Amino acid sequence: MSVGNANVGLERACPAPKFPASSIVKADFSPALAREMEPLYAKVKHVVTPMEWVHYAPLIKAINELKKERNAVILAHNYMTPEIFHCVGDIRGDSLQLAKEASRTSADVIVQAGVHFMAETSKLLNPDKTVLIPDLLAGCSLASSITGADVRALREAYPGVPVVTYVNTSADVKAESDICCTSSNAVQVVESLGSPRVLLIPDEYLAKYVQTKTKVEIIAWKGHCEVHERFTPEELESYRQADPGTKIIAHPECPPDVIAMADFTGSTKAMIDWVKDKRPRKVILVTECSMSSNVAAESPDVEFVRPCNLCPHMKRISLEAIYESLLKMQFEVTVDPAVAVKARRAVERMVNLTN
Ligand code: 13P
Ligand code: SF4
Repeated sequence: MSVGNANVGLERACPAPKFPASSIVKADFSPALAREMEPLYAKVKHVVTPMEWVHYAPLIKAINELKKERNAVILAHNYMTPEIFHCVGDIRGDSLQLAKEASRTSADVIVQAGVHFMAETSKLLNPDKTVLIPDLLAGCSLASSITGADVRALREAYPGVPVVTYVNTSADVKAESDICCTSSNAVQVVESLGSPRVLLIPDEYLAKYVQTKTKVEIIAWKGHCEVHERFTPEELESYRQADPGTKIIAHPECPPDVIAMADFTGSTKAMIDWVKDKRPRKVILVTECSMSSNVAAESPDVEFVRPCNLCPHMKRISLEAIYESLLKMQFEVTVDPAVAVKARRAVERMVNLTN
């Protein structure tokens, strides 16, 4: 993974913190705190046990107070765990929603509760704001599958063919591309270019999925998501045999034989919308496991089967890491200005197209 643009441990002039980290860890879960935090616990009580809440509640209170002191917002991806997603996230959603909202926020500080490429995208759209990622090692197997030099080599191999880059890439890669896409707008972006052939990189399975939806010839790269590539049709078949009424909803980063079994395929937002709209009796969300918990928190009537594939990068973001991030203003994500100009163009072109 390339994290070369992030300044580790950057010293910043910031107001004295109200809560030293050690006092939070030891904070008492008093009856008064329990009462104060009750409305937030109500949001997650179906998926967070009372014992877990005793540990989470003081941190959530401290984070929400620090956010006000810093004039900060937390952008929480759908794969965050429920106590983060529902209790400290201000803007929540899929990659496209987070990118769009990042460009609208009036906060001074953005904390990305997600992975590094998402923080870079937020920085591209907010060059004058401070963008923090709570853990610099929160990468992505798709982003690390390709470099800017690879894209330049592809352009030489396919002269004149436009390059569409999935947002799950570094700023260096975005800078070499014509336009970005996410899983929710990839078909629209590809067709907007008016070209008979398009390079859609780096996710091979997303490219194959888009190929089933368009007549434009898609040229792919062999990058894969380490979470979605682990799902197999055999595994899904066994769940379906156990209960034939179970609905299967898949993310387009899954292998084609998995997508072939799905009742619906879409971005994380589209998957959530499908469940909220159709309210199936029982469903498998074939994607990162925490998302099922986030939807289950709001849909107690739906039963979720959970083949629990966790994204090790997303799971680096914890309440403790977010707290430390806001307290110490770490770790600031920056992008080389020369790279940022070109990468921003590719992201903004996508955002403008889908607005
Ligand atoms: P979405 O754009 O659907 O949120 O996907 C992002 C991601 O990282 C999926 O693994
Ligand atoms: Fe990357 Fe896959 Fe993790 Fe999404 S789930 S951040 S695509 S490794």
